Amino acid sequence: MALLDKHKAIETHATLLMVLAFLTVTIGGLVQIVPLFYLENTIEDVDGMRPYTPLELAGRQIYIREGCAVCHSQMIRPMRDEVERYGHYSLAAESKYDHPFQWGSKRTGPDLARVGGRYSDEWHRDHFFDAKSVVPESVMPPYGFLFSAKLDGEDIGDMVKANAMVGVPYTEEMIAEAKADFSAQADPNADSDGLQARYGAAAFPGGRDVNVRNFDGQPGITEADALIAYIQVLGTMVDFSTFLPDANR
Ligand code: HEC
Repeated sequence: MALLDKHKAIETHATLLMVLAFLTVTIGGLVQIVPLFYLENTIEDVDGMRPYTPLELAGRQIYIREGCAVCHSQMIRPMRDEVERYGHYSLAAESKYDHPFQWGSKRTGPDLARVGGRYSDEWHRDHFFDAKSVVPESVMPPYGFLFSAKLDGEDIGDMVKANAMVGVPYTEEMIAEAKADFSAQADPNADSDGLQARYGAAAFPGGRDVNVRNFDGQPGITEADALIAYIQVLGTMVDFSTFLPDANR
């Protein structure tokens, strides 16, 4: 009873309540935030993580431009229902090369953090043209215009360079070869040895080779090529059949 009376004193004095609430939140916040400044690294390195290839980076730019994050998140939370539906929960390392992050905060559509490789390129083509053709109840808008919007890759070197400036470990060579790598990834007949040497399994141990295909199924490089290349790599860089968190190594 005595305790309840004391609490009544707090609840009936707005100023006292605000001061005490502020103190509580401050202490709670400090306990969470301060230790982070004393850790050498808050993101553990995970094998297989590599920067996006130039074509994937261009696709990511289209994803941002079209506001896909308004309807789609890219963050699987470590809760059972999410893990069972979408796969392993998202690791911090998996977003470390994302500037800006595309975590999103709304799921009108499903989470896309691990959608890479889940569907064929053909499925994505049909889906972007007209989502209802593959999922009749879908409310996703059509994106057919992406298939006629050609990309020449003229600005891709600058885009890679801009990402390097904010900390993505693109090398001088990756920047210099950005346009060649951009074209090589969307053309199965092109020589993609350079692209694989820079971004493939040889360059990033524990990683995989880069997907090299004609993503949109038509001649030339379009925004659809770039967007599908990006979608198909989401969540596929880390090999979860061998992954162990640092604490369990
Ligand atoms: C108005 C909301 C909305 C917007 C904007 C939107 N989507 Fe969707 N998306 C959905 C819904 C709803 C679904 C689930 C039904 C379906 O598959 O069409 C979906 C499904 C998907 C799927 C299949 C996911 C899965 O696991 O089945 C992909 C991939 C996808 N969207 C990509 C995109 C991309 C890329 C963009 C931006 C170019 C985008 N979406 C924009 C609502 C949206």
